[in-house]
Amino acid sequence: MTGRHAGKPRLIVTIDGPAGTGKSSVASQLAKRLDLDFLDTGAMYRAVAAVAIDREIDWQDHNSVVDVAVDSDMHFDFSTDPPELIAYGAPVTRRLRDADVTGLVSSIAGIPGLRRYLVRQQRMIAASHPRLVTEGRDQGSVAFPDAEAKFYLDATPAVRARRRADQLRAAGRSVDEAVLCREIIERDRSDSTRADGPLMCADNARRIDTSSLSLEQVVDVLEKLVRLSGAGVDPGTGGTGEAVAESGSVRFVSPGVRADRS
Ligand code: DC
Repeated sequence: MTGRHAGKPRLIVTIDGPAGTGKSSVASQLAKRLDLDFLDTGAMYRAVAAVAIDREIDWQDHNSVVDVAVDSDMHFDFSTDPPELIAYGAPVTRRLRDADVTGLVSSIAGIPGLRRYLVRQQRMIAASHPRLVTEGRDQGSVAFPDAEAKFYLDATPAVRARRRADQLRAAGRSVDEAVLCREIIERDRSDSTRADGPLMCADNARRIDTSSLSLEQVVDVLEKLVRLSGAGVDPGTGGTGEAVAESGSVRFVSPGVRADRS
């Protein structure tokens, strides 16, 4: 290992969970606090969807989707913050949240051959960036079952629908929260029953219900848990927040932490 991580032990932190739990923001802020690299694996599936659309690949032709993913030489440029995703030699990050990409990505993510390919890529990234917070659906269960720290973030469908509605309203869109909530429940059902890399809480992952926690509070909880686990970071003080919540299966009691595994 070279650079700022030279001489430090491997530390892979996985954060999985459904959409609307604030995973991406939590993961990137946790990475900053612990001085780790950050991997957004949803972006990899989104990039494949974008490339498939732009090259007019029929997503139902699974082999062609895998071929285009391989062909694109997709990789992250870790010299930028956040890391820029490059495909076919050009940045694709700005394309990833477009409606057509968001509409297709869930189907793309169900392609077993693509999942195998991207999990291999994720492991290669971790081999060259072994101090990493990686975020997705299957990071603790499939990609890195031996990760040093594993988390599963959850929140009730109603809370996740409200968070999504707030984002859409902030972007000037009108929304029906009840419809969003039904979509979320349906998406959870399809993601968790997928044969390959289903959304699930890995055996030894800590499940954290974020329903009544702010983003900063969730980052505080995770930072404390990683530091106290002794997994390759200074125990430090961990986070700026004090006792913040008793929520779901995690009890966060300042100055220490008590968390129940579920
Ligand atoms: O987290 P996100 O919304 O950017 O994820 C985009 C899609 O990719 C979503 O349908 C879930 C899927 N995904 C996955 O199946 N496995 C991952 N490790 C990451 C994302």
